[in-house]
Amino acid sequence: MSSNQLLKGKRGIIFGALNEASIAWKVAELCHAEGAQIVLTNAPVAAKVGQTGQLAEKLGATLIYADVTKMDDMENLISQSMEVLGGKLDFVLHSVGMSLNVRKKNAYTDSNYDYMHTTMDISAMSFHRLMQTLWKQDAMNEWGSILALSYIAAQRIFPDYGEMADAKALLESFSRSFGYHFGKAKKVRVNTISQSPTKTTAGSGVGGFDSFFNYADKMSPLGNADSESCAQYCVSMFSDYTRMVTMQNLFHDGGFSFTGISTDFMETFKD
Ligand SMILES: NC(=O)c1ccc[n+]([C@@H]2O[C@H](COP(=O)([O-])OP(=O)(O)OC[C@H]3O[C@@H](n4cnc5c(N)ncnc54)[C@H](O)[C@@H]3O)[C@@H](O)[C@H]2O)c1
Repeated sequence: MSSNQLLKGKRGIIFGALNEASIAWKVAELCHAEGAQIVLTNAPVAAKVGQTGQLAEKLGATLIYADVTKMDDMENLISQSMEVLGGKLDFVLHSVGMSLNVRKKNAYTDSNYDYMHTTMDISAMSFHRLMQTLWKQDAMNEWGSILALSYIAAQRIFPDYGEMADAKALLESFSRSFGYHFGKAKKVRVNTISQSPTKTTAGSGVGGFDSFFNYADKMSPLGNADSESCAQYCVSMFSDYTRMVTMQNLFHDGGFSFTGISTDFMETFKD
């Protein structure tokens, strides 16, 4: 698809591009193609297990490692980004998630609370920490846009998604609450995009992923939304064409969230 330079002159930070399968990877590539200047960030451990450095090189972007659970890292990331980019920010993508109980295959009814605490910290509180740091450093330009990625397990039960469902519910709540304050004081919008199941490192870590990927694909009139189309939606949310959209959880799921049953699925249950 040819570029429309929708983000020409805009500056932003993109969290969470671990490898080519990451949703944030596709967002970073498209933001770059649409004329934005970006800083990439990821957890320090990603330097060993991921390819964020290669993406930074390819896009000519600065990479600043930061653990989202560490206040100092977050403060350094925001101030350094403004310095590198030469001004305040117009957009930020939070594309970070990890569940320790899910990773350790603990049943939801046998959750370890130290793990749960870390899960909430990485996957939800980090969004508040990010917004509070942006707020305190007055780092956002007016009409800027802040986005995080969520999943429909925040509203409906998907048993294998475990405590991540609760983390996503908290994430969406932070988006509404901080969105109010950011809107009122600084004309900045805050939203979450609730994305279809997507084949990535984080996604595939959820038990039974292939089953609910296929289930969602069959249930959605348009099929599952892939990471490229998610990137396009993110870019539209960073552009000036969505300036009055805030405090929303926006479903980007091919219609899954509002489908009761699909004809494809009904075939499966015939007699
Ligand atoms: N894949 C899916 O099916 C799906 C569906 C809906 C929403 N999402 C959400 O999309 C977002 C991106 O996930 P993805 O699917 O692209 O997987 P991914 O594994 O590529 O991305 C997750 C990122 O989180 C980063 N991260 C983990 N701990 C961190 C920490 N302490 N500090 C900084 N970064 C840390 C990882 O390094 C990685 O880059 C997540 O919020 C995820 O929950 C994914």
